[in-house]
Amino acid sequence: MMFSALFAPMDLGSVRIGNRFVHSATYEVMALETGEVTDRLIGRYRTLARGEVGLIIPGYLYVHSLGRAYRHETGIHDDRMIPGLTRLAGAVHEEGGKIVFQLAHAGRQTTKAMIGRTPLGPSGGDRDPFYFVKPRGMDGGQIQEAIRAFGAAARRAVEAGADGIQLHAAHGYLINQFLSPFFNRRKDEWGGSDENRFRFLGEILSEVKRETPQGMPILVKLNTHDHTPREGITPSLAATYAGRLSKLGIHGLEVSCGSGWYSFMNMCRGEVPVKELVTGLPLWKKPVGRLMLGRMAGKYGFEGGYNIEAAKRIKPVLGDTPLFVVGGMRKAAEMKKALEERYADGIAMSRPFIREPFLVRRIREGKTDASACVSCNRCLAAAANDIPVQCYCREFPASAR
Ligand SMILES: Cc1cc2nc3c(=O)[nH]c(=O)nc-3n(C[C@H](O)[C@H](O)[C@H](O)COP(=O)(O)O)c2cc1C
Repeated sequence: MMFSALFAPMDLGSVRIGNRFVHSATYEVMALETGEVTDRLIGRYRTLARGEVGLIIPGYLYVHSLGRAYRHETGIHDDRMIPGLTRLAGAVHEEGGKIVFQLAHAGRQTTKAMIGRTPLGPSGGDRDPFYFVKPRGMDGGQIQEAIRAFGAAARRAVEAGADGIQLHAAHGYLINQFLSPFFNRRKDEWGGSDENRFRFLGEILSEVKRETPQGMPILVKLNTHDHTPREGITPSLAATYAGRLSKLGIHGLEVSCGSGWYSFMNMCRGEVPVKELVTGLPLWKKPVGRLMLGRMAGKYGFEGGYNIEAAKRIKPVLGDTPLFVVGGMRKAAEMKKALEERYADGIAMSRPFIREPFLVRRIREGKTDASACVSCNRCLAAAANDIPVQCYCREFPASAR
């Protein structure tokens, strides 16, 4: 087979993944407003497992009710979520797949309307230029509560039968906020130095380890560049953090970039679907949205494998810890090269699987050698519009839900 390197198994902790393909976490807009999974959401992952995606990481799961980013985000914040999550894991296992739950807390990257109070962040003060949220800086008790929430969520993941967990430390969410000198301006033990900014993630890792069986994969998705207006995580700071994570014994690191509205287009390079994104905004935000998004248009042209340079930089500090690269991986030849030249151990994708759930199987069968995704980003606009995510490349729905 031409692309056999892509179909070699990979071990993460004590779990064997059948090939090198990873479904990168993708918010589906498919959960109930209570946070419970739906049949539609389960169906999505059953199909992907049938499509032979080696490791499936569904869209992020909020670990605490104050850490919820979106109305139809799946929850893992309460034991009542366990039966639905058990069905989700079971469906993937029935099809022979492996499933890892991504645990997330939005921190300041949400709204009062979503969580019923002012969003929390490592530091208060500055107003987010898009959400218009002026977050409240967390006190020691709130920080401990968030850390414990990650631990409790990990326990629920184990009870639901997940094969592993991934901590979402990318894209501007709470862990990323603590890691970033742009968002974290604290002067206490949680900020002020790289070591202190890392403490929140370090504490979460110990809590999560306590709650999960030995060998169960604990993965981290990390930004290698925040692309914030002032310096946040840079590639060199990311390398420092990656080195620490590897020493702490994580079982895999996925490298991404971009944080929230400051730089979401760095995360998802391609077209800026201005019209579709503006449609999803409340009336009063439309003018500013049109202006901000209009300025972005044309500046984030798609590039193949746009986090590969970062992966090359991070890989040497990781030792034996597997690295997954995500972002613009589209051509099987490019994926194979990343594995053969050993700057990545796994190939993670999001948008290609929205368009083609059977992409992996078709590559294995020699029916294709590249994703048909054109990175129009209408799937991303669907999430912003509260519309279940699917490929809307040809036509974008006129109204939400
Ligand atoms: C609709 C949509 C939802 C996403 N939701 C998540 C998420 O829940 N967690 C996450 O870490 N990344 C999320 N991402 C980012 C992807 O995982 C991935 O990092 C990014 O799309 C770049 O990879 P790609 O070029 O293969 O799409 C999302 C992306 C899209 C398009």
